[in-house]
Amino acid sequence: MWPGNAVATRLFTAWLPYEDAASFLEVGCGAGVTSVTAALRGCSRVCALDINAAAVENSRLNAERHGVQDRVSTLKSDLFSGLGPSDRFDLVYWNSPYADAPPGHAYDSQLDYAVFDADYVMHQRYFADAHRHLTDGGRLFLGFSNALGNGSRLREVAAMAGFTGSVFRREVFSFAIDVPGVRTSDSETEVDYVLYEFRRA
Ligand SMILES: C[S@@+](CC[C@H](N)C(=O)[O-])C[C@H]1O[C@@H](n2cnc3c(N)ncnc32)[C@H](O)[C@@H]1O
Repeated sequence: MWPGNAVATRLFTAWLPYEDAASFLEVGCGAGVTSVTAALRGCSRVCALDINAAAVENSRLNAERHGVQDRVSTLKSDLFSGLGPSDRFDLVYWNSPYADAPPGHAYDSQLDYAVFDADYVMHQRYFADAHRHLTDGGRLFLGFSNALGNGSRLREVAAMAGFTGSVFRREVFSFAIDVPGVRTSDSETEVDYVLYEFRRA
């Protein structure tokens, strides 16, 4: 499963505005770092769901370890499919598998689901179904990288569901590529991590 100490996990977890939310839904919770943090930062009802059973169990154990099991529920679910129709949250968030893969990509492992979304089919479903699980005034977030993902396709699939994204917070890292035998035209490359907030027109 996705490691809980990834740079993206740390940044997005630090940036989310938990203080404005009583309830928090984390889609694709991985190790449960963000969900546990949401509970520790004051959200009184947290739901951590993932398509990967190992991630769900890991999140449950981490909620227990940090003493927030009374307010963090865990659920194995393909996006929102395991939720009830009346389950609504003030904050809905996914640190998504933003690497676009060609249509028909074969998912070989559970980790594949943490990294790839072929033609952004799952992103499409995230936007299409998210509004049913937002409270009035609820806020929708997505953790993303334009360097590693496909920003124009993201805008397209969000727009199909009537959503427009704006940058809530962003950080860019420059680093030197130093791989023996690999020639790069430029010795520096950049990776961005962006927390987007999406609103419906
Ligand atoms: C980039 S990882 C992020 C994990 C965790 N939120 C974090 O920040 O460390 C993406 C997560 O989304 C989950 N995921 C992918 N497709 C999903 C789906 N259709 N339904 C629920 N979770 C999904 C993956 O299993 C993975 O745990």
